[in-house]
Amino acid sequence: MDYHTLSKEELIAHINELENKPYGLVWEKREEFIPQNITLRHNHEHHILKAQGQPTHTLIEGENLYALTLLKKHIYDSLDVICFVPPYFTRNNDLRYTDNFSSNKKNQFKYSEWINFMYHRLVIAKDLLKQDGFIAVHIDEKMHPYLQLLMNDIFGESNFVSDITWQNKYGRANDKKTISSLTEYILIYAKNQKNIQFARTALNQEYVNKTYKNHDNDKRGAWRTSQLYKDKNQKSYKVTSPCGVEWEKPWNVTPETFVKLAYDNRIWWGKDGTAQPRKKIFLAESNGQVEINLWTGKEYGYVGDGKTELEKWIPLKGKFLYPKPVQLEKKILSLHPNKNAKIMDFFAGSGTLGQAVMELNEEDGGKRECLLITNNENNIFDEITYPRLRNVIESRGFKENWLCYHLEHEKDPL
Ligand SMILES: C[S@@+](CC[C@H](N)C(=O)[O-])C[C@H]1O[C@@H](n2cnc3c(N)ncnc32)[C@H](O)[C@@H]1O
Repeated sequence: MDYHTLSKEELIAHINELENKPYGLVWEKREEFIPQNITLRHNHEHHILKAQGQPTHTLIEGENLYALTLLKKHIYDSLDVICFVPPYFTRNNDLRYTDNFSSNKKNQFKYSEWINFMYHRLVIAKDLLKQDGFIAVHIDEKMHPYLQLLMNDIFGESNFVSDITWQNKYGRANDKKTISSLTEYILIYAKNQKNIQFARTALNQEYVNKTYKNHDNDKRGAWRTSQLYKDKNQKSYKVTSPCGVEWEKPWNVTPETFVKLAYDNRIWWGKDGTAQPRKKIFLAESNGQVEINLWTGKEYGYVGDGKTELEKWIPLKGKFLYPKPVQLEKKILSLHPNKNAKIMDFFAGSGTLGQAVMELNEEDGGKRECLLITNNENNIFDEITYPRLRNVIESRGFKENWLCYHLEHEKDPL
């Protein structure tokens, strides 16, 4: 900021702002140009119409800030999930995706321009989310601290849900002098923490095979056992096994409940009927397990897998694109329990999220619909996003529709 050009009032306002914000993120807040007359023009020749009554997705080519500004008038408070990978910050133009943040050397706050760019888009993104919706943003370790503070500012710290660590590489870079990083992050915020509940995941099959047995051929199927007594706070009482062995412990259920469990054959006294009693927990009654914040590459793919997947559909001819693995995107989307969720990616790039949505619908019978926005930087829309989605649909036989639009507006005078 050039302080010499500011009036006395502007300087006072600036000092006030800095003094009233003693910690947190400080950056050079600037307005971005927003045209008055933003419209969506049907890109008729690109529409993909496969089946009536099936999910109909939307693909918009254009500047995402303008698209978001327009969408805010129509789909306020109506998205379940927003998920994206922002353009990376770099000053060296060695980027996988080119960006606009490397040119401005005047900027005295190093990452200010990137933060400002993200700020304007995230503010609108929050407005578009439903009250029980969430946003998931992929981020590398360098920009992670800035993004987290920014998202705390916009969504509120109380709406922080998780910071997932994704193992994106498996081999260490041995030429590093200090530490070789194998991870990236996915920051998740709720629109309103008290309204969200994530889907639980199926129990790990290896764990199920190892833990659940059916020693007594119970009609209800395989079961495991859990402890029935607590050391503290509970009054002891005596119980007797069917073969007459007595046990006195501070059981963690009341005597009445113990009797009910025993009557329903939910107490296990060991194979010979003499062991300390334990409670039977049936696999069929399990409601899965809660998700954890450590996602391995083995399960959800490594960074190279996204590119390999993309190359199945589009020859990349040496283009520097590192999309996230489809498997990883599907995992994020499946956190939302609504299988008909409305989903958006406004940095859609090669369209990985679009493929993930269609695959997930096929796998679980859902009718999720997504809205992708991307610019045509380096012809990405013409040469990659659109042809990828079309090729995926044709080859996999998906019966889903895509409506394509081009964003029209007056030009930024700068
Ligand atoms: C990091 S990439 C996203 C990669 C994407 N997840 C994929 O699967 O390929 C960011 C993408 O956002 C697009 N982009 C960057 N700035 C944009 C803007 N202001 N409006 C619309 N798209 C933008 C770029 O074309 C770039 O491909």
